[in-house]
Amino acid sequence: MPHYYSLGIVPEKRHIVSRQPNGDLYQEELVGTQGFGGLSSLVYHLYPPTMVKQKGEPYSVKPEIAVDNGLNAMSFMGCNVPAEADYLKSRKTLLVNDAMHIGLAAPMLSTPYFYKNADADEMLFIHEGSGTLKTMYGNIDFKYGDYLIIPRGTVYQLTFNDTQNRILYVESFDPIFTPRRYRNDFGQLLEHSPFCERDIMRPKNLQTINEMGEFDIYIKKKGVIFPYVYINHPFDVAGWDGYHYPYGFSIFNFEPITGRIHMPPPIHQTFESKNFVICSFVPRLYDYHPDAIPAPYHHSNIDSDEILYYVDGDFMSRNNIKKGQITLHPGGIPHGPHPGAIERSIGQKETKELAVMIDPFQQLKITKEAMNIEVKDYYKSWLPNH
Ligand SMILES: [Fe+2]
Repeated sequence: MPHYYSLGIVPEKRHIVSRQPNGDLYQEELVGTQGFGGLSSLVYHLYPPTMVKQKGEPYSVKPEIAVDNGLNAMSFMGCNVPAEADYLKSRKTLLVNDAMHIGLAAPMLSTPYFYKNADADEMLFIHEGSGTLKTMYGNIDFKYGDYLIIPRGTVYQLTFNDTQNRILYVESFDPIFTPRRYRNDFGQLLEHSPFCERDIMRPKNLQTINEMGEFDIYIKKKGVIFPYVYINHPFDVAGWDGYHYPYGFSIFNFEPITGRIHMPPPIHQTFESKNFVICSFVPRLYDYHPDAIPAPYHHSNIDSDEILYYVDGDFMSRNNIKKGQITLHPGGIPHGPHPGAIERSIGQKETKELAVMIDPFQQLKITKEAMNIEVKDYYKSWLPNH
């Protein structure tokens, strides 16, 4: 949950005369979400943010659904999503419902254009690579293990330091926040939260770019990309203040909560939205009751699907899992540790596992892109001697 923040020059009062050194007025823009009731920022541009020169032909990037209604534990080899030069083309949507899209991208090149998701907050989890997220609010450097939360409506560019990049992403049609139970009435993260404000990476290095020309902004709305050309650079911002801005958080700054006996998945929770939660499984000490079973118990997530994205380390409850692999354990049927994993966990002192879990509260549909990287017969992987 972002706090009030400001970079650059902002007038003493909102909605009053404020002039640039050349005498022109700053062009004030309220960037607001959820009508006028959500998070917003006031942004001071050099030029009006409305100067569209031309519009290109819109094109659909709607995911094609392969499995509309399944009840199948499935797995997908995320590392087999091919690297592609272009960022937007490299994004492969794998799992969708009405509230969210989940996908993977392996872009090789920085974006020469600008991109804006008009109806979804985006969460990018950087599995491989490093670079800079550039926005009109300032820049955020990112590296392995960083979550980037980019609120809807934020025009952005990604520059990469190398060609080897791998990103897990979520598009959420409701805002993404930190868990409500970790915040007080004023939004401050409480003492029992596994992270605090100091761990949040806010935009820095606001650069006001005064440039005229042709600037391509690809705007995504309802599964369609609308190519727009503006005559001024979108990062022509002298200053801004408010609560609507992108931020980053490293999974390595998530301080795990541990206990004497097995702690339930919500203690790993990092973000929440109306229709899903995101959790971080990080290296930690295991349960310290002398007879504790560190592996999780079998469980029936009756009304929630469960996605695990394996980032690094040995995942103690699963056999034969590779980095970048995804498992989908659907609501409605139980799942649990793989054969041997419970016994194997007894007496273990710590785990090095690193994984991102996404629990959607609505059933996920499986896309054709996901079926291309499916691990066949994963649903049989709990059979003895599988
Ligand atoms: Fe589970």
